[in-house]
Amino acid sequence: MRKRETISSLQSAKGSRKLTMITAYDALFASLFAEEVDMILVGDSLNMSFNGKPDTLSVTLEQMIYHTNAVCNGAPETFVICDMPFGSTNSEEEALAHAVEVFRKTVADAVKIEGGAERAAIVRRLADNGIAVMGHVGLLPQSVRGEGGYKVKGRDEKSFEKVLEDAAAIEKAGAFSLVIEGVTPELAALVTRECAIPVIGIGAGAETDGQVLVWSDMLGLFEAFKPKFVKRYMDGATLVKEAVRSYSEEVQKGAFPAEEHCYK
Ligand code: KIV
Repeated sequence: MRKRETISSLQSAKGSRKLTMITAYDALFASLFAEEVDMILVGDSLNMSFNGKPDTLSVTLEQMIYHTNAVCNGAPETFVICDMPFGSTNSEEEALAHAVEVFRKTVADAVKIEGGAERAAIVRRLADNGIAVMGHVGLLPQSVRGEGGYKVKGRDEKSFEKVLEDAAAIEKAGAFSLVIEGVTPELAALVTRECAIPVIGIGAGAETDGQVLVWSDMLGLFEAFKPKFVKRYMDGATLVKEAVRSYSEEVQKGAFPAEEHCYK
């Protein structure tokens, strides 16, 4: 059985082994992933792939807590991180109250907060109050409406410098780890070298301390669109549709249930 990760085991992995993280939103899939990854993120991406919304912004804290509980139930021996939803960390007071609510109502190990230097005081406040925080810099999905789209960072000097400053500020504020999303591989590599904490990449090249993918993307289940950085490790949508079609056809033909599916 895989050994449960802790903040110190995750941090000591830096430079010696790559860390793996995957999202999960329910107990069933969390239990399937648990043996294979170091961390499970209950990402607010669930609002898109689970809830069918166009972006992550409308998910509520209550929904994040519900899904975090399901994941913790399915993967009790895995390090679980709950994403703080849009609008739940606007001030230090609010962020602390909401993160405390997550810790009271679930057994999540940490929370994740999107944002750069402007969120540093909030990260500091949580860390000072015993809440482990994973930062999230680079492309920020919660800013999609504010920025008018998903904008890759690091292609121009201004955004390159901003992400570097953001990562340094979030680390200094006490985050135990950092997600870096949607940046050039050069920028992600530099952030990874400059930070002492583990830097987990998504759409950020290969030179980070680890990788994270959204489960429904990497299993090929989310068909609406495929970002460039996603690798589909199986064609889940086709497999699921074929299986359900076979079931339907067998019911219609009277081939299911067969004798072995019937009680004696
Ligand atoms: O919500 C999410 O799934 C995330 C990952 C993309 C890092 O934040």
